[in-house]
Amino acid sequence: MKEIINVELKAQKSGFSERETDLLVAGRFSDAKKSDFVSDELDSKLGGAIERLVKLGDFKGKEGTSAVLYGDSKIGAKRVLLIGLGEEKKATLDTVRKAAAQAANKAAAMKVKDVALTLHKPFEKRFDLTKMAHVMAEGVYYGSYSYDEYVTESENGRPSVLEIKLIEPDSGKIKKLEKGLSTGIIVGRIQSYARTLANRPANVISPAKLAEEAQKMAKSTKGINCTIFDEKQMADMGMGGVLAVGSGSQNRPKFIVLKYAAAKESPAIALVGKAITFDSGGISIKPSANMEQMKLDKSGGIAVLSTIKAAAELGLPLNIYGIIPAAENLPSGSSYRPGDIITTFSGKTVEVQNTDAEGRMILCDAISYAVKQKCETIIDIATLTGACMVALGQYMAGLMGNDEKLIKQLQAAAEESGEKVWPMPCGEEYAKEMKSKIADLKNVGSKWGGACTGAAFLRQFAGEVKWAHLDIAGVDMIEKSTEFAAEGASGFGVRLLTTYLMNKGKK
Ligand code: BES
Ligand code: ZN
Ligand code: MN
Repeated sequence: MKEIINVELKAQKSGFSERETDLLVAGRFSDAKKSDFVSDELDSKLGGAIERLVKLGDFKGKEGTSAVLYGDSKIGAKRVLLIGLGEEKKATLDTVRKAAAQAANKAAAMKVKDVALTLHKPFEKRFDLTKMAHVMAEGVYYGSYSYDEYVTESENGRPSVLEIKLIEPDSGKIKKLEKGLSTGIIVGRIQSYARTLANRPANVISPAKLAEEAQKMAKSTKGINCTIFDEKQMADMGMGGVLAVGSGSQNRPKFIVLKYAAAKESPAIALVGKAITFDSGGISIKPSANMEQMKLDKSGGIAVLSTIKAAAELGLPLNIYGIIPAAENLPSGSSYRPGDIITTFSGKTVEVQNTDAEGRMILCDAISYAVKQKCETIIDIATLTGACMVALGQYMAGLMGNDEKLIKQLQAAAEESGEKVWPMPCGEEYAKEMKSKIADLKNVGSKWGGACTGAAFLRQFAGEVKWAHLDIAGVDMIEKSTEFAAEGASGFGVRLLTTYLMNKGKK
C-alpha cells in the first residue's frame, strides 16, 4: 500500500542565492514598495527578472498566486517560486502557514525533490521565528498532502519524498527555527494521518477497524491507553444510543476510550468525537446525490484520536480522555426506526423522529461517559448538522457551549491554528424544541436552527460540567482542490484542539 507523502523538513544555514536546489521559494507582499531582502538579493542576481515580472503585471503578490522563474545558472537554484503574500498589513501567522502550504502543494505538483523555503524572511519583524517555523511545518504537510492510497495506475504520480529545508544565513536563528519545526512537524504529520483515516472509505474503515487503528496508535505512542467496549459491554452499561444507531449494520458498533494521563491529581479534559463510519441516514434514508461524502461522517472521532496522539507526542502535562463512539448508520431489518424510544446511558429517554439525526444519539452516551469519569471539561467535535453548513458555509465550524471562558479559549485556539470557528447559540429556546411528549427528549427540533437545536440536545447531557461543541459539518471536507490543499478530508480539528491543549498545558 502506498504511504502518504513522506515529508522531510529541516532548518539549514545557507545563503539564499547560493543554495543549490530544485526549487527556491520566496514570498512577496502585493504592496511591497521595495522588495524585501530575499527577493532583492535574488532579483539583482537574476538581472532584474523578478521586477520585470511584477512590472509586466504577471505577478502582483496577491494571496493565492504564484510565479516560477528559472535560475539560468545565475543563482544556485534551478527554479524560483514566488508566492504572493497579499497586503503586508493584513498578514497574520496564517498567511505564513498558507504560503508554506501553497509552496509545498506546488512542489509536489512539479515533482521536485529538494525545496528551500525562505518564507519566514518577509515576516521577521512581526512574528516570532519559532512560531513561524511551527506554522510553516503545519503548512508544508497540509499543502503537500493528497490521498492516493488506492490509485494503482496513474500518469501523474507524485514524488514519494519531499525534502524541504527552511534556509537562513544567520546561524544564530537556526535553533529557534528548529524548535518551532519540532512542534509543527508533530502537528502537521498527525493532521495528514487524520486526513488519510478520514479519506478511507467505509468498506475499509468499519467501527471495528477504527477501534483496531486506535489500539495500534495507542500501542505505538508513549503514554496512551486504549480500551474498546463491544456491543455486549455497551449493553451492560446501558448505552442505548450507540447501540440503536449501530443496530442496522453487520459492522457492529464500538465504543473507543483513549486515555492520556500526564498530570497527577489534576482533573481530565474529555474530547468526544462522532465516528459514524458511514451515514446513509438509516431508515430515514438520505438522497443518493453525494451520499459517498458521508464516509467523512467519522471525521470528529478521527480528530479526537489524532489530537490525543499529538498531545502525547508533544508530552503535554495534562490528563485527557478521547471518547469515540463508532457506528455505521444503515437501513436494514434490524435498524432502529422513527418512533422508537431509546433509553440512553444517562437514563434519559429519547424519541427517535429521524434516524438521520444519529450523531446526537451516539454523542449523548459519550458525553454521559465523560461526565461519569468526572472530567472537568468536555469538548465534542462532530459533523452534526447540514444546517451548520447552511449557516456558515465551508469556512468555519459552529461553536456552542455552556461556559464563556471555554468558548473564549476555543476561539483563541481557532485564531492561532487557522481552523476558524463562529459562535452560535444553544440555550433554552432551542432546548425547548427538543422536548418530546412521550419521552424526555426527541432527536429533532423544528425546521429552523438545526445546528442550534442539535447542540441544545447535547448540552443537556453535559449537565453542570463545562462543555463546548464544535459542529464541523462543512469544514470536514475540501470539496475541490485549491492552491493550498488537495480535495477530500481536511483533518479539521487536529490543529484547533491541539492548540487548545497546548495553551492549557502552558498554564
Ligand atoms: N452527518 C449528517 C450531517 C452532515 C450533513 C454532515 C452534510 C456533513 C454534510 C448528520 O448525521 C445528519 O444527517 N443530520 C441531519 C439532522 C436532521 C435529520 C435533524 C441533517 O443535517 O439533515
Ligand atoms: Zn451523521
Ligand atoms: Mn445523519
